[in-house]
Amino acid sequence: MKWMRSVPFLLIIGLIVADDRPIPSTLDGPFLPVTRRFDPSLRRGSDDLPMDHPRLRKNVSYNFPEQISLAISTPTSMWVSWVTGDAQIGKNVTALDPSSVASEVWYGKKSRKYTSMRRGVSTVYSQLYPFEGLLNYTSGIVHHVRIDGLEPETKYYYQCGDSSIPALSKEHMFETLPLPSKSSYPRKIAIVGDLGLTSNSTTTVDHLVENDPSLILMIGDLVYANQYLTTGGKGAPCFSCAFPDAPIRETYQPRWDAWGRFMEPVISRVPMMVIEGNHEIEPQISGVTFKSYLTRFAVPSAESGSNSSFYYSFNAGGIHFLMLGAYTDYNATGAQFAWLKEDLDKLDRTVTPWLVAAWHPPWYNSYSSHYQEFECMRQEMEHLLYEHGVDIVFSGHVHAYERMNRVYNYTLDPCGPVYITVGDGGNIEKVDVDHADDPGKCPSARDNIPEFGGVCRLNYSSGPAEGKFCWNTQPEWSAFRESSFGHGTLEVKNSTHALWTWHRNQDVYKEENHGDQIYIVRQPDLCLPTTKVT
Ligand SMILES: [Fe+2]
Repeated sequence: MKWMRSVPFLLIIGLIVADDRPIPSTLDGPFLPVTRRFDPSLRRGSDDLPMDHPRLRKNVSYNFPEQISLAISTPTSMWVSWVTGDAQIGKNVTALDPSSVASEVWYGKKSRKYTSMRRGVSTVYSQLYPFEGLLNYTSGIVHHVRIDGLEPETKYYYQCGDSSIPALSKEHMFETLPLPSKSSYPRKIAIVGDLGLTSNSTTTVDHLVENDPSLILMIGDLVYANQYLTTGGKGAPCFSCAFPDAPIRETYQPRWDAWGRFMEPVISRVPMMVIEGNHEIEPQISGVTFKSYLTRFAVPSAESGSNSSFYYSFNAGGIHFLMLGAYTDYNATGAQFAWLKEDLDKLDRTVTPWLVAAWHPPWYNSYSSHYQEFECMRQEMEHLLYEHGVDIVFSGHVHAYERMNRVYNYTLDPCGPVYITVGDGGNIEKVDVDHADDPGKCPSARDNIPEFGGVCRLNYSSGPAEGKFCWNTQPEWSAFRESSFGHGTLEVKNSTHALWTWHRNQDVYKEENHGDQIYIVRQPDLCLPTTKVT
């Protein structure tokens, strides 16, 4: 029995050793590539939550707000969005009148003692499939109100709705982020990709809540409503296997409403910044696309000088975020590129030292899935981001985790961004497990055709994979990859150091076991010698 008494002691020693391990930093890199394969004791996928799941059910009456969410507008203002009324689905649907219910937000620094009220806009959208046997959808009334005059790092209480009915929401609370400054940063930023609405998504969101972020980046493929028929039937676990005979890719739009309810407990108190993924395209009648995504979310496009909701920028403390569109024109001659250049030229790195970019499909990716899919976008935009010293790039799309060594133009570079893929939020499709360098897993020319833009497959021009499309071992630019569900958090400590942590879903009850953790360290003197950083 003596050995049993020693077990707790050994466990304690083990924990101390684990805690004492120094967290690596990017200054220790470039790192030799490491692969951790999928743990076969876990499931690679899970079914979607049913529409009658308690977290998906509507639980307010007709004119009362639901699906409440926040998004940053400017450092002193916030978008508050919600939905009222009932969506309809059927052969014939009649759009609700958006003016039938007001859009008001009452808010102030003390609970139930509101000192301000702002009115906003309301709208509806329809998803129309004029084909035999397919059903049409028209949404509830979507409201967006911009509340302003907010003080930094301050708690605000609010209710939204229509006070004349009266039909106001219950009271919610949020905390504003710090003003742009090299000495103030958001407490913790959560980064989530390809979330969906499964039991794995539930674990991801519960885990995220436990991590208590003050800001969320939702980097595309939110709901997966396009894995369904318009009747709500068939939640398909893979994109290409769904609906081969349908005249158009169908969607079940009530999944969006369900997702809004699922997320409300988090995003009614923590701002969520979205960028579009391929699952948001949702083509319908007359070639209309992205209707649900564009209607449901408020993003600070006008505030950041962008004329498009497909790309924008915003500040949170000393971080400037670039949210870029991969499913809209990204060419160097296009409007997004011109806006991006202007946005970058205006940057003052003495005020916002950190520059973080996000878009949905990764440029650097060694998994077979989506391998080199957005190579055209990389070739158009990479040099501009590199010249302006982007520190970190977050992407999703690939349903697994991967952190790159600092890289530029497929060459290790101490001033290249740290690219990180976190498309592992837990959607109905499975975790990606194949690597392009695994025997027989290098994608063929027919694989990985992007849903926007062109095909720019590239054989490497130098290095161990010279003349080849795939490496035969994990590429040197891939520092660490693991096939698992999870999400990430970024904690910026000061103008040069940020702690990045990848939280695997299976680690939810033992947080000392991180999937990956590293200090991302900026070197402005080396990489931005012409920028004054005090
Ligand atoms: Fe995607």
